[in-house]
Amino acid sequence: MNHIVAVEQFERLWVEQLFVEAERMRSVFRAEPVLPRYILATLFYEPSTRTRLSFESAMLRLGGQVISTENAREFSSAIKGESVEDTVRIIAGYADAIVIRHHEQGAAMRAAAVSPVPIINGGDGPGEHPTQALLDFYTIWSELGQLDDLTVALVGDLRFGRAARSLALLFRLTQRSELIFVSPEAVPMGADVRRALDAAGVRYRDERDLGKALAVSDVVYQTRIQKERFATQDEYRQARGIYTIDRQSLDLLPARAIIMHPLPRVDEIAPEVDADPRAAYFRQARNGVYVRMALLAQLLAPSNG
Ligand code: CP
Repeated sequence: MNHIVAVEQFERLWVEQLFVEAERMRSVFRAEPVLPRYILATLFYEPSTRTRLSFESAMLRLGGQVISTENAREFSSAIKGESVEDTVRIIAGYADAIVIRHHEQGAAMRAAAVSPVPIINGGDGPGEHPTQALLDFYTIWSELGQLDDLTVALVGDLRFGRAARSLALLFRLTQRSELIFVSPEAVPMGADVRRALDAAGVRYRDERDLGKALAVSDVVYQTRIQKERFATQDEYRQARGIYTIDRQSLDLLPARAIIMHPLPRVDEIAPEVDADPRAAYFRQARNGVYVRMALLAQLLAPSNG
């Protein structure tokens, strides 16, 4: 596997092997520097805290180095009209791999089509966020010890939320799972994801009552309403604040269930939930470093990773 652009590339065995490696990365205080003199470029046209910094942390922990442009929409030559393709062709001469986040769906695929070095999709508009899905899946595996036979409620903005879309698609690699889509009417899970789940035989259903979904779920995956993707502020206001997780929600949730969120959160999980041991979202964010370490090691130094 050279480029990482969409979860449809992943196979179950590959994912499980990656998790074993991520687990090893987690267990050692300082990983072996398997990527000395390798350079990772992070090319971000949209804001990020976790994806960019965890990739950079992962690369540095593996002994590699990082070059970076945050806010590439303004501070790279994109502002002068340079295409993503040309920018990637140039950066490929400076770095051994490129993590790209872009506001347009499909941009990572376009970058991969012209890049001689691995392209990693760090989120392409409302499209996909495949490495987020990997770390989410790793978190489920690590917290619950299983990937099959799970009931998972995906809550919030399922139309524009690329993390939820990618995670749903990754459940094609599982057996006997059920996905419950709990979303405001304006932002349902897309028909493309539903078609892919149908083709793979993954059960899913829509549920308007969050309480009913909480009561039967092993995993509750809450997401932010993606303010930046709405055409008007009115549409955004109609979709926000409908599904929130608070202290009362915890009473409905099974004892062994976990609450996840790709973060950042706004108001969809109350801070009072953070202290509950089932709140896994900060552990989930930390897992991003281990999974991305394993991924970079495999992409750039497969004999070591
Ligand atoms: N989960 C995630 O993609 O977070 P950032 O936008 O901070 O990278």
